[in-house]
Amino acid sequence: MTPVLICCGAGGVGKTTSAAGLAIAQAQAGSRVVLLTIDPARRLADALGVRVGSEPCAVTLPAGLEAKGTLHALMLDPKETFDRVVGRWAPTPEARDRIYRNHVYQHVSANLAGAQEYMAMERLYELFRDGRWDCIVLDTPPTRHALDFLAAPDRMANLMDEGVMRWLVLPASRGGWRMIERGSEVLAGVLERMVGNSTIADIAEFFGAFQALWDGFRERSIEVSALLGAPSTRFYLVTTAAPAARAEARLFVEQLRSHQQPLAGFLVNRCLVPAGSPGAPEFAPRADLPEWDAAVGAVGQLYEQHLAKVALQEANIAELAAGTTAPVWRIPDLGEAVHDLDGITALSHYLRAAVA
Ligand SMILES: Nc1ncnc2c1ncn2[C@@H]1O[C@H](COP(=O)(O)OP(=O)(O)OP(=O)(O)O)[C@@H](O)[C@H]1O
Ligand SMILES: [Mg+2]
Repeated sequence: MTPVLICCGAGGVGKTTSAAGLAIAQAQAGSRVVLLTIDPARRLADALGVRVGSEPCAVTLPAGLEAKGTLHALMLDPKETFDRVVGRWAPTPEARDRIYRNHVYQHVSANLAGAQEYMAMERLYELFRDGRWDCIVLDTPPTRHALDFLAAPDRMANLMDEGVMRWLVLPASRGGWRMIERGSEVLAGVLERMVGNSTIADIAEFFGAFQALWDGFRERSIEVSALLGAPSTRFYLVTTAAPAARAEARLFVEQLRSHQQPLAGFLVNRCLVPAGSPGAPEFAPRADLPEWDAAVGAVGQLYEQHLAKVALQEANIAELAAGTTAPVWRIPDLGEAVHDLDGITALSHYLRAAVA
């Protein structure tokens, strides 16, 4: 099965950046990689050459990387993905166009709560079925509940299947529409959120036309769940070493556990790099320099401070990973440099071990 690497974590911790770094590391190792980004920062999107609504586009990797594989990247466009799903699974072009034109569909496809998560799963599934890729790297949206996207396929299937949606398609004679007309406040609220200002005729048409797609939604939700649960799918928890990030990170670990999803490892972003590892400040005696002894005092003091910060960071990381056997990989804070391809490539060096 095609390996799927998923970067999850709290908002702003560096999921998109890490996903790009993992993708480059994997391409360097020789895979044909596709990276699905979600709302990347503009500069990163420019660096990767991705645009809204575009197909996977080839990323030119820095020559010095001597990558054995290739990298393609794309940006999730939930609305366009929804349209494509409808286009692919509608029984006829007429049914497809009826759905596209329908006001309820236009509202639902742009506003459905969780649509971004769900469409990320649909897009993942398309990439998986595509057959062109040795490895799919998936960035995840900044959700309120970290692993919402895991539940997205089920939720979508349920929504299509039962609950309010199912109730709505009850024929008027069975009381469905009449209750709406009576103006139950709760229902009016639900409807308003779900379908905006559509008319009941719109709603009826939407469900009539969408009926043919429901089985497909349900089947894919089962297949996507199987893909997410496959041993070849690896979940990386992106976080920082700050004590404040720990509670949220632990919550992720618990959520993954409750989904019976093993954690591939922690990607601890914005780290100070421990002494001795590549990129760490060097401190080698230079007795040949004038004023060496005076300089050594000042630099040595700074270096001591650096070591103390690293020790604190390492203690925080140990606490973060306590109780799990998951490996920890550290990603240094690169400052401004991380916005371009060279920056992400520099960062990918720290992720080679994570994809090995
Ligand atoms: N190691 C790093 N060094 C320097 N800057 C970084 C690093 N990691 C991330 N950043 C910067 O931090 C910001 C947030 O990173 P990113 O967009 O990857 O986070 P995210 O988790 O995807 O956010 P969101 O939850 O909003 O999607 C970006 O401006 C990014 O360039
Ligand atoms: Mg992001």
